[in-house]
Amino acid sequence: MIYMLDTADVNKIRRAYDLYPISGVTTNPTIISKEKSEFIKILKDIREVIGADTMLHVQALGIKAEDIIKEAEYLNKTIGGNLYIKIPVIPEGIKAMKLLKQRGVKITATAIFTADQALMAAMAGADYVAPYVNRIDNISGDGVGVVAEIRELFDIYGLDAKILAASFKNVQQVHNVALAGGHSVTVNPEIMDALLSHPLTDWSIDQFINDWGTVYGKDKLSSDVK
Ligand code: E4P
Repeated sequence: MIYMLDTADVNKIRRAYDLYPISGVTTNPTIISKEKSEFIKILKDIREVIGADTMLHVQALGIKAEDIIKEAEYLNKTIGGNLYIKIPVIPEGIKAMKLLKQRGVKITATAIFTADQALMAAMAGADYVAPYVNRIDNISGDGVGVVAEIRELFDIYGLDAKILAASFKNVQQVHNVALAGGHSVTVNPEIMDALLSHPLTDWSIDQFINDWGTVYGKDKLSSDVK
């Protein structure tokens, strides 16, 4: 399972990237807008925190293939590093994917709600496809089921494209996507913390610390005691 962080908050990225096995950061225009700061500066700050080798997925604006291509080239030139251009699965987006693939640009197909959209994006050259799990659930769909279908189709046709499941609102959705073979997930920092959190883990650690401290002294490490 590949974990990515779905945020443009540099401080939250710094903390989570330091703690967790995170392979990339994903953004979209809504996520970037929340930071209320200069667009390129936000991306450069993120790049500085995660380094050049870690994946950064940034969405191209525009709904015409020529605008999407212009955006992709501008972002690659300006941000650089291991950059994936997110492109929505609209007809002009699929055209842009085909053309950008020929130029060696890395592509994440986004705004995916059906397995057929994912399949066409993969055939057009997408490296990742991003189904929106919670948004599918919110319209009485089956977000995890869509992920499972995409995985089945990619396996049947031997496609190299990977799933980057997105739009999560709880840990159970992430858990079910992992079981469905979802390749990778992008989650906000709060869900990243929640994936690890368990009251009995905290309780057990408190008990270890108390029992140890009673005999060997509070805050002492094994290297401090005989
Ligand atoms: C990925 O980056 C998607 O754009 C994102 O996960 C959508 O999440 P939301 O449905 O919570 O807005």
